[in-house]
Amino acid sequence: MKIGLIGCGNMARAMARGWARPVVCFDPVLERAQALAQETGGQALRSGAEVAQGADLVVLCHKPAQLRDVAAELVPYAKAVASILAATPLSALKQAYPDRPVYRFLPSLPAEVRAGAIVQAVDTSTRDEREGLGRSPDLDAQVRDLFASLGTLVTLDDSLVDVAMGLMSCAPAYVALVAEAQIDAGVRRGIPPAQAATLVTETLGATAELLRKRGYDTLAVRREVTSPGGTTARGLAALEAGGVRAAFSDALDAVLGDARR
Ligand SMILES: NC(=O)c1ccc[n+]([C@@H]2O[C@H](COP(=O)([O-])OP(=O)(O)OC[C@H]3O[C@@H](n4cnc5c(N)ncnc54)[C@H](OP(=O)(O)O)[C@@H]3O)[C@@H](O)[C@H]2O)c1
Repeated sequence: MKIGLIGCGNMARAMARGWARPVVCFDPVLERAQALAQETGGQALRSGAEVAQGADLVVLCHKPAQLRDVAAELVPYAKAVASILAATPLSALKQAYPDRPVYRFLPSLPAEVRAGAIVQAVDTSTRDEREGLGRSPDLDAQVRDLFASLGTLVTLDDSLVDVAMGLMSCAPAYVALVAEAQIDAGVRRGIPPAQAATLVTETLGATAELLRKRGYDTLAVRREVTSPGGTTARGLAALEAGGVRAAFSDALDAVLGDARR
């Protein structure tokens, strides 16, 4: 399956690196497309229309606000479309790209290292969509496998994808901030920055691995580390008093905007 990327920014680059296969691509900044084409052994083209003509699957990696303008150019040529646009439901995508297969995924930056979570939106609003009537199972499977190669694929109803964005697409920035805060705290107490960064970062990665092994049971892991009245219990109490849960809850509300509060 030949992949065509429309937009060659941060997410397109992360996914192309994860796929590690040649892509055809377009970006208004030609040098950006050329850099990505060179990195993947693919080809930078001079318009989105050319990409759509040459690709089996067009992957929309531009900004959500550009949906209509880009679709106006691509519609005559795009055979199948996969979108990663945030806050853009399947209904809007199908309206912009009628009469062809349309998929919606939500990746996150660790796609670059083929890790992290990828959401596939499913439309359960009609029987045809629920049962995949009129669709090609082969194409569905190929597209799903393509994105599943970038991380752990989770299917969610389309109405929940924006909520998921607050948990996983934004999360690399949150996790980096949490790591930075811990590193700074260690440095303040005398640990050299490089060692502090190694201690914190390796522990983050290893904790994710352990959580996976424990079936994502966060409480089990916390219990194993927290002896009654011990140091971790004191640290956790300080974090709770500092409002860590409320801060993450507020962050999700902020991502979704006032309308969802
Ligand atoms: N970053 C993430 O972690 C993340 C996660 C999940 C989903 N997403 C979604 O992924 C998409 C891309 O995000 P990003 O962070 O990669 O943004 P980005 O770095 O700004 O990349 C978007 C690229 O699209 C280009 N572009 C603008 N107009 C275009 C057009 N008409 N045709 C083709 N390309 C065009 C932009 O060029 P200019 O800069 O010149 O405008 C830019 O190079 C967004 O829709 C976002 O919602 C991002």
